[in-house]
Amino acid sequence: MHIKPLLQVASLKKHDITPIWLMRQAGRYLKEYRSLREKYSFLESCQNPELAAEISLQPYKRFSFDGVILFSDIMTPTIGMGVDLDFAPGPVLKKPIRTQKDVDFLTALSPEEHVPYVLKTLQILKKEIRPETSLIGFCGAPFTVASYLVEGKHSNDFSRVRKMMKETPAVLKALLEKLTDSFILYLKAQVLAGADLIQIFDTWAEILSESEYLEFAFPYEKKMVDALKSEIPVILFAKGSKKHIYNIQKVEAPIVSIDTSLTLKEAKDVFGSQTVLQGNLDPEILQNGSKERIREAVRKILAEMKGHPHIFNLGHGVLKATPTDHVSYLVDMVRDGI
Ligand code: CP3
Repeated sequence: MHIKPLLQVASLKKHDITPIWLMRQAGRYLKEYRSLREKYSFLESCQNPELAAEISLQPYKRFSFDGVILFSDIMTPTIGMGVDLDFAPGPVLKKPIRTQKDVDFLTALSPEEHVPYVLKTLQILKKEIRPETSLIGFCGAPFTVASYLVEGKHSNDFSRVRKMMKETPAVLKALLEKLTDSFILYLKAQVLAGADLIQIFDTWAEILSESEYLEFAFPYEKKMVDALKSEIPVILFAKGSKKHIYNIQKVEAPIVSIDTSLTLKEAKDVFGSQTVLQGNLDPEILQNGSKERIREAVRKILAEMKGHPHIFNLGHGVLKATPTDHVSYLVDMVRDGI
């Protein structure tokens, strides 16, 4: 029986190595990704299972990460729900969702029918990866996905979604409910297709005040985590670790991914020994730091987490100008435990 280090740590079992994978480990910093993307659009790459699997495997072949994450986007399942979406490079909607009528128009997601390519990609990956490697499925959290649906494109000030929180909160909540129920089914289908762990990304929780987080992010994150955590280890990544830490703790996710606003030592002191922590090397350091600087930052993290269940990752996704030799250097260092 092969041991999967990521799952060992996820189940709080004793382990002697720190497993590592990186958010956005597949993508533009890899030349083999850029060359595929010259031939295929981002959406084609997500919707063609052979292609999506190949892209998921690109960083694995180079760096032998302990986890392989499905290549897709947090917005792809909304296409199955009836959203007309493209990527340029971020998500862009033909018709943003602003009214109750727009929300009613969305169909509940039926994963086998609407996103068969995601499930097929996971099935291919399951066959391609070594038995000691874990397959990671994922999904966006309702608030983050709703932000894109309401804004219609990347926004610097989130003015539309802020307006909705103030003026028509019931419409926003109807949208969040609908996304929550669909995403639970989506993640359960990913589990059946072979995912060993899943991560929920709530990147834009960062823009919320405490009371807004409690009203528009927390209940939906919690409902998703509660629906899944008895079936599979669930990682919650809600950005804004520092400002939301005590409320994130109340979600009771078994694994919490920490961004760079907090040290892992601070997070460990809050969460205690029964929550696995993931993170949190600064992606800027990995991209722009000298090897000495990277080494120093990695050593600090490993020292802080000694004896605590820890999955090594970044505080956010890999940046697109990250040199690949920095990534190999990082993986070697974490493997060697120095
Ligand atoms: O981690 C992985 O390797 C798996 C694939 C993955 C992508 N997006 C591929 C992608 C995952 C897990 C995501 C999540 C995602 N998508 C989030 C949450 C995590 C985060 O980074 O905060 C968010 C907010 C999105 C929305 C999104 N999709 C944006 C803002 C953009 C464009 C800008 C950018 O950061 O690249 C995308 C497009 C996208 N999703 C690309 C990739 C590789 C780039 C597409 C390209 O130009 O080739």
